[in-house]
Amino acid sequence: MTVNNPKLHFIFALALFFSSAASADQSPAIDLQNGEDINELCAGCHGLEGQGGKQGEYPRLAGMPAEFIARQLRLFRARERPNLAMLQYVDHRQMPDPDIADISAFLSRIKLPTKLPPADPEAPDFNAFERLRQAERLMQIPRAPGDVEAGKAIYAKECASCHGGEGWGDNEQAVPQLAGQYTNYLWRQIDKYIRGVRIHDPEDPEYRLLAEFSQEELRDVLAYLSTADD
Ligand code: HEC
Ligand code: HEC
Repeated sequence: MTVNNPKLHFIFALALFFSSAASADQSPAIDLQNGEDINELCAGCHGLEGQGGKQGEYPRLAGMPAEFIARQLRLFRARERPNLAMLQYVDHRQMPDPDIADISAFLSRIKLPTKLPPADPEAPDFNAFERLRQAERLMQIPRAPGDVEAGKAIYAKECASCHGGEGWGDNEQAVPQLAGQYTNYLWRQIDKYIRGVRIHDPEDPEYRLLAEFSQEELRDVLAYLSTADD
């Protein structure tokens, strides 16, 4: 159909404008059950609770911003962030966009305790099985070597504006938490950013912030981060 009447043109344009505004507003519905199902694949390496494993060979995913997880999965899928271990799990057929949204939402909602609440094993309502379950989910990063006070000062000045006051990340800006992550894993990623294998700041891909610090300074920052969950 061709429309020659200018008035009708205007009405069509208006209708188009409102229908596209309405659909932009509806983010696709998240299916957490699908996320949980997909997680069974991930659990073999990252753990059923997304707690990671093998001292950081597999990173913690629990509680990370959903958009950060989703972006990393898209980068793996596009081969822009190398990850041999995960390649077979993230090709387009295995991991279309709606699945990425579901698994990312599922993992970002998992909260891992950093401490066990006080309990009295002599109390009549003490539940040893429940206690064991809690202990299994506990996530405590062992103290890493380095000068915690010096690291805290560097962190506050150079990292906190993006990674949050105490290292727990920023959900809205999709910046990952560094506190509560394995020290080994963080070292490996720092090395990748310095070598340009990963891009630290997508808005300024050439800028290598972490290359500006000495190994000693970075070690101190990681020492401080390892104490954030104490
Ligand atoms: C065969 C083991 C394996 C499986 C299965 C696996 N991963 Fe991974 N994953 C890894 C390894 C190894 C890394 C770390 C790569 C690196 O050092 O850069 C990683 C890294 C990640 C990261 C980056 C985290 C960060 O903080 O940068 C995300 C996100 C991730 N995996 C999500 C998933 C999801 C979701 C699944 C399930 C669909 C999954 N992985 C399945 C091995 C695995
Ligand atoms: C301008 C904001 C900004 C600043 C400042 C910043 N970061 Fe980041 N950082 C990010 C973003 C965004 C990511 C995720 C990038 C990606 O997709 O790989 C990230 C990721 C990381 C990661 C990888 C975490 C993971 O789970 O994969 C490490 C390690 C890291 N930053 C360390 C630091 C340290 C140490 C400092 C301070 C010296 C710092 N960052 C300062 C924004 C920032």
